[in-house]
Amino acid sequence: PFVQKADSVLALMTLEEKIGQLNLPAAGDFTTGQASSSNIAEKIKAGKVGGLFNIKTVKKIRDVQQVAVEESRLGIPLLFGMDVIHGYETIFPIPLGLSCTWDMDLIKKSAQLAAKEASADGINWTFSPMTDISREPRWGRVSEGSGEDPYLGAQIAKAMVEGYQGNDLSLNNTLMACVKHFALYGAPEAGRDYNTVDMSRQRMYNEYFPPYKAAVDAGVGTVMTAFNEVEGIPASANKWLMMDLLRHEWGFDGFVVTDYTAINEMIAHGIGDLKAVSAKALKAGVDMDMVGEGFLTTLKASLEEGIITEAQIDEACRRILIAKFKLGLFEDPYRYCDQERAETEIFNAENRQISREIASQSFVLMKNEGEVLPLKKNGTIALIGPMADNAENMTGTWSVAGRFKESVSLKQGIQNAVGNDVKIVEARGANVVADSLLESRVSVFGKPTYRDHRPEEELIQEAVEAAKEADVIVAAMGESAEMSGESSSLSTIDLPANQRRLLKALAETGKPIVMVLFTGRPLAIQWEKENIPSILNVWFGGSEAGDAIADVLFGEVNPSGKLTMTFPQNTGQIPIYYNHKNTGRPLPEGQWFQKFRSNYLDVPNEPLFPFGYGLSYTEFEYGDLSLSTDQLNGDQTLTASISLTNSGEFDGKEVVQLYVRDLVGSMTRPVKELKGFQKVFLKAGETKEINFELTQEDLKFYNHSLDFVFEPGEFEIMIGTNSSEVSTKKIDWKN
Ligand code: IFM
Repeated sequence: PFVQKADSVLALMTLEEKIGQLNLPAAGDFTTGQASSSNIAEKIKAGKVGGLFNIKTVKKIRDVQQVAVEESRLGIPLLFGMDVIHGYETIFPIPLGLSCTWDMDLIKKSAQLAAKEASADGINWTFSPMTDISREPRWGRVSEGSGEDPYLGAQIAKAMVEGYQGNDLSLNNTLMACVKHFALYGAPEAGRDYNTVDMSRQRMYNEYFPPYKAAVDAGVGTVMTAFNEVEGIPASANKWLMMDLLRHEWGFDGFVVTDYTAINEMIAHGIGDLKAVSAKALKAGVDMDMVGEGFLTTLKASLEEGIITEAQIDEACRRILIAKFKLGLFEDPYRYCDQERAETEIFNAENRQISREIASQSFVLMKNEGEVLPLKKNGTIALIGPMADNAENMTGTWSVAGRFKESVSLKQGIQNAVGNDVKIVEARGANVVADSLLESRVSVFGKPTYRDHRPEEELIQEAVEAAKEADVIVAAMGESAEMSGESSSLSTIDLPANQRRLLKALAETGKPIVMVLFTGRPLAIQWEKENIPSILNVWFGGSEAGDAIADVLFGEVNPSGKLTMTFPQNTGQIPIYYNHKNTGRPLPEGQWFQKFRSNYLDVPNEPLFPFGYGLSYTEFEYGDLSLSTDQLNGDQTLTASISLTNSGEFDGKEVVQLYVRDLVGSMTRPVKELKGFQKVFLKAGETKEINFELTQEDLKFYNHSLDFVFEPGEFEIMIGTNSSEVSTKKIDWKN
């Protein structure tokens, strides 16, 4: 029915109006404050705009929609998009942090709430989820993704799409989702944003595509192209990606939008002028042109010259009209403009409370020697570090509609938790980075880093004096919000040197230290791991970060987050990821250097913290792994079981992880692949039996001919607390 409805509108449209539907300018409310197109209102009246983004509030959106509906010839309603990435005004943890909850219900709930808030304010389309697998912590946008694993990434992609879109796109509290960036944006050479990507199709299918496909399978409404090239052709002109794979192989039936000016950027990629690249994009399967107006300004000429066909324009326009019908905009263009909802459902106490709960689940306890944590609510705490009193930076990157200033800082959170029971002494101790030029690059988008211009030695000395007065030091260190995110690549991922100097001075006081680590990417914190007794990685926790961190610091919440990206020992180990291949000269496990083996002279092969790693205030003991059988045929099911005991003193949650290894294949196979996980709650002293079921389907992979196959033979089945610490048993699975 949507196709017929769309066609009935299409039949009334002029060529110019059809091309107009393919145009997506930015309104200019956010980020730059500049509208991307001049005279937007005039263009809307002339039927030259299909949607608008970076605009918010019921009033503004209603006004603009009214121009489209009442003053353009056909009255076609507009789409209103926005980067609602990890919350709207109530911000949840950055997506990398969210992924560390390993809790699909919570992740889905965060997307549902984001949709509820944004849709109350007039918005009907979000440019999320970002499902780019990445093994590149130099790349700043790892903060916006779900880490390195295709299996986990696929589950999260599904949860996000279901959360945003619900069961019915036309309900006024859901958003149309947009999976991005199609494809392979997370694998730029040298971790430099927008850089060239090149990999085998086998790697694409097995390791990078699963999350995009999962979003498509979950019914995602739209797909955004990537800035990078794929096999030598920019993604926005890549017919193989958008037609052959996305539409024909995967059956995607929504519309494809480019990333911001991605069509125009293909001129710099070197595949033609604006007219040529716009025609290439349309022919390859792009439906909507974000910001660049290449479609708007050149498609008519390309049609007249026979470079494209009207059928291609019709097809793109039809897909966009169908989306508008699905969203219910033709029935009621103001469906998402509800002032009453906007006043009650956005950034309210309930949403903020849920954000706090989710944030506390995303933190990863990396180390807790001598059980410095949880802290006691007495004595004196020295609160030190550039991230201690910085509310604006709590929401992290891509939180465009977030109310940064109203976020809860760590200092506020600690004060809320301890009241007058604890004395807090404060010192900044260090700036986020020593270099003022670098700082000016990361102190942007309304998220100042508050530079202290005194000499470094003076800052450190002040911090040491404060520390001497205290029973324990809480050191709030790491990155500021915009040190990760788009266009925030780093060539080294060490903790900034000036912060490390501060930590060294604090360590010399002999006082116990808890490092509260703020970061949007894995950092190479080898020195910190060796010298700081307690490390709690809190990513960027969102609007309620400070309260959520305090919940964990003082033991109201027992940390349960587990890493979804490997932390390397140094930048030179990158790319480092758990599901790597074996090579012909693997290093025997537990060893470092052997001549003529695949290893480094100067650093072991092991990561600093492996994928899946995270501690708890309690202890979890794993029993023996048992398998229902070690010989299987055909479509039998294998059950792998392990008993899990909470042998510590706190109730807590553990993410039990199941990995497999295909020992002999027609192609080389990874040394480990995640194939299941369960987040389990156990009371102190409690034991539970954890069971996983596996079928041949779970062991399939894309072979050299890209057929998705099960190959019989021997497999290792592994269960454990992280990707490095597992119990292993072998099975033989015949066809
Ligand atoms: O959605 C984003 C994308 O992830 C990066 N470029 C800009 C887009 C729209 O803001």
